Amino acid sequence: MAPVVVKSGPTCAVIALKCPNIKVTIVDLNQSRVDAWNSSDFALPIYEPGLVDIVKACRGRNLFFSTDVDKGIQEADLIFVSVNTPTKKSGVGAGFAADLNYVELATRRIAAVATTSKIVVEKSTVPCRTAESMRTILDANSKKGCDFQILSNPEFLAEGTAINDLLSPDRVLIGSLQTPEGRDACESLANVYAHWVPKERILTVGLWSSELSKLAANAMLAQRISSINALSAICEATGANIDEVAYAVGKDSRVGPKFLKASVGFGGSCFQKDILNLVYLSESLHLPEVAAYWKQVVQLNEYQKRRFSKRVVDTLFNTITGKKIAVLGFAFKADTGDTRESAAITLIKHFQEERARVVVYDPQVVESQIWMDLSEASPDISLDQIKKQVSIAPSALEACHNAEAIVIATEWKEFREINWELVYANMNKPAFVFDGRLLVDVEKLKQIGFKVMSIGRGD
Ligand code: UGA
Repeated sequence: MAPVVVKSGPTCAVIALKCPNIKVTIVDLNQSRVDAWNSSDFALPIYEPGLVDIVKACRGRNLFFSTDVDKGIQEADLIFVSVNTPTKKSGVGAGFAADLNYVELATRRIAAVATTSKIVVEKSTVPCRTAESMRTILDANSKKGCDFQILSNPEFLAEGTAINDLLSPDRVLIGSLQTPEGRDACESLANVYAHWVPKERILTVGLWSSELSKLAANAMLAQRISSINALSAICEATGANIDEVAYAVGKDSRVGPKFLKASVGFGGSCFQKDILNLVYLSESLHLPEVAAYWKQVVQLNEYQKRRFSKRVVDTLFNTITGKKIAVLGFAFKADTGDTRESAAITLIKHFQEERARVVVYDPQVVESQIWMDLSEASPDISLDQIKKQVSIAPSALEACHNAEAIVIATEWKEFREINWELVYANMNKPAFVFDGRLLVDVEKLKQIGFKVMSIGRGD
């Protein structure tokens, strides 16, 4: 069992904060992660703005972290199953379907250990009807007198804004079987959220609708980004400005302004995984046109990353061999140290293939993570070889020293506030900035002397 604490940690911390009468225990088999949650200097295993203050307020009061999974199960009335559901790497559905091994193991453990009735809440993102499999396993293995109700309660928080998203969510979604017992269980969980979430924002639906809504929400969010990124290619070819197009389109209240920021490509642990999951589901249901539609969202995202790297090479006079490229940002988005599916990984791999020298800087991502990601991205190359081409700098200024080009891969605020005059003075000329996040003040940088290429701008 491998509980995911990236998202369940903040969720449980906020429940503990808002419900002082409820004892919340996060159990995880990973000793070092639990130690980090319990550390005296609050060096938590994840970086999430605002989280540390909540853990400080609640830890030891009604929020506990432990590796004793069995005790956690036995003591609880309500159990959130927040385990990893990565994309399968082999077997049926490899590359698309979710690997439900951890969900099954966790469910079997609950059945084996529980001595009283429980409400089991599916928190991980799972394919439709997983709850049914969980129920079958629990029913077949439960002890006498133990009744299990299954709920689906997908997580909608985004990394970097997790605490705000949890404190004032657009909605909380709870899916249950439409039986009297199912509805009762649903009400028990709704009562937990009702401590701080207005009643009209707590939506209760059927189990399968709840499971599919999670995949649908992520697919539609990612689809917006791929749509705006597809348009960014047209902008670059025509001289239109993608920010202006997004602004004009987003002013239509039916479309709305959010999630229309063109970028070098979306990353994160969820969008790609969930869409591939939806593609697999559609194929399994013999709906090839539906599968192809969603698959294109991911393909466009890959195209966007390739297109961006190619623009760098084309602009630097068709070769970057031996040239120093500073990559600013390695996380998949700002305000997180998470690098899963980060566009920066793909860009650096492309630059390595072109035999450039790459210097990376990220304010949050630890060095070991960068090396691990780059090694995984190029399994045929040894880490020593990678280190001959790639290095890590302790600051943006140092990363840019003597570089031919700067690539902005993550929208960290501090990159907007760099001393650009100083950066320019220390770069080889012509000095290029490739802004993959529409972050910098293009006119200001041009005045300093930079040649600036932004996503979705032809100039
Ligand atoms: C996403 C969803 O936004 C959450 O609602 C969901 O709960 C979560 O997945 C999940 O399933 O766990 P997250 O991946 O943390 O959250 O981050 P997002 O803010 O959605 O960003 C994802 C990627 O899209 C990032 O690389 C970001 O830079 C990129 N993005 C986002 C854009 O390129 N343009 C935008 O306009 C918005």
